[in-house]
Amino acid sequence: MYSEIAKEKLEGLRGREDFLILAIESSCDETSASVTRGREVLSLVIASQIEIHKRFGGVVPEIASRNHTCAIKSTVDEALTQAGVTIDDIDAVAVTYGAGLLGALIVGVSYAKALAYSKGIPLIAVSHVKGHISANYIADKSLEPPYLCLLVSGGHTAILEVLGYDKLKVLGSTQDDAVGEAFDKTARVLGLPYPGGPEIEKLAKAGNESINFPHGFHKKDTLDFSYSGLKTAVINYIHNTEQKGESVIKADVAASFQAAAVGALADNLEKAITLTGYKTVVVAGGVAANGYLRNKVDEIGRRRKVKVIYPPLKLCTDNAAMIGVCAHNLIKEGGIAAGLDLDASATVPLE
Ligand code: KG4
Ligand code: ZN
Repeated sequence: MYSEIAKEKLEGLRGREDFLILAIESSCDETSASVTRGREVLSLVIASQIEIHKRFGGVVPEIASRNHTCAIKSTVDEALTQAGVTIDDIDAVAVTYGAGLLGALIVGVSYAKALAYSKGIPLIAVSHVKGHISANYIADKSLEPPYLCLLVSGGHTAILEVLGYDKLKVLGSTQDDAVGEAFDKTARVLGLPYPGGPEIEKLAKAGNESINFPHGFHKKDTLDFSYSGLKTAVINYIHNTEQKGESVIKADVAASFQAAAVGALADNLEKAITLTGYKTVVVAGGVAANGYLRNKVDEIGRRRKVKVIYPPLKLCTDNAAMIGVCAHNLIKEGGIAAGLDLDASATVPLE
């Protein structure tokens, strides 16, 4: 029976640091595969669909699934080749099972199951968010829980206590849009291409923070966030300016939006540091690539004497290396192997 063989092999991996994981990530518009050993990335291949989805102004789920199907085999094969190994050298397969686009996830999960089953090796199910957080173990090989995490992605915005590799506590989270989503929507309003985050950051460099968008729409007494109001404020500003017959200076809108969006993150992060007393903060998710945010968080770190860690830029957005490292840690912490009945899941609770 596969499950017994996989269970036994998993027990054999515990306490070891040197085993090889083949990781697969397909939750949105990147098909990615990576071979990792402990916190070391031996190879990372990312087949991005950004150019395909650009013309639609965002990710079209059905098109994403189809393109994952086309890309998955060559992506996995390339990751093995680049690492200088074959599938027979791999000790476990890790895969993102959620959260994300269901059809897209199913492609990665099905491929991972088939590989694990055919080779009789354990299958490790990884949550996408825990994967994003784990990119920081690649950046800082000595990082260990507990620490504070600012999670800023296209789907999530939260402040978390990372209590263990598999144990998160939510201190505050967005009540509506995620900050990455706010960047993407604001970019769209400004006529910038998808994905909007990097475009806003680029344009903001040429602008002034001259428009007074209410500085973050977070509530005073909590660590929660709300970004739908900021998005509406940007739309109203553009509309009113055009109605007055004045021209909209897009760079100023981008700079002012970015200042407000990041301001809310910085304010709540500083409150969380005060509340919890943590001396290590990690930033995780696609928006962690934003230089303006990094500067603000660095400033807080210096002022509050807190160590700040970010993933390398390439590992901020979706990639399989973070999934492999997360799986390694889960195995270390006593995590169990998934069965062949593993389902992809569009949503996964943060805690
Ligand atoms: O973490 P991620 O891959 O998405 C989820 O897992 O949900 O991040 C994608 C998000 C997009 O919203 C994208 O616009 C944003 O990260 N992003 C950025 C930057 N690079 C990516 N946002 C602001 N500035 C950037 N440089
Ligand atoms: Zn992601």
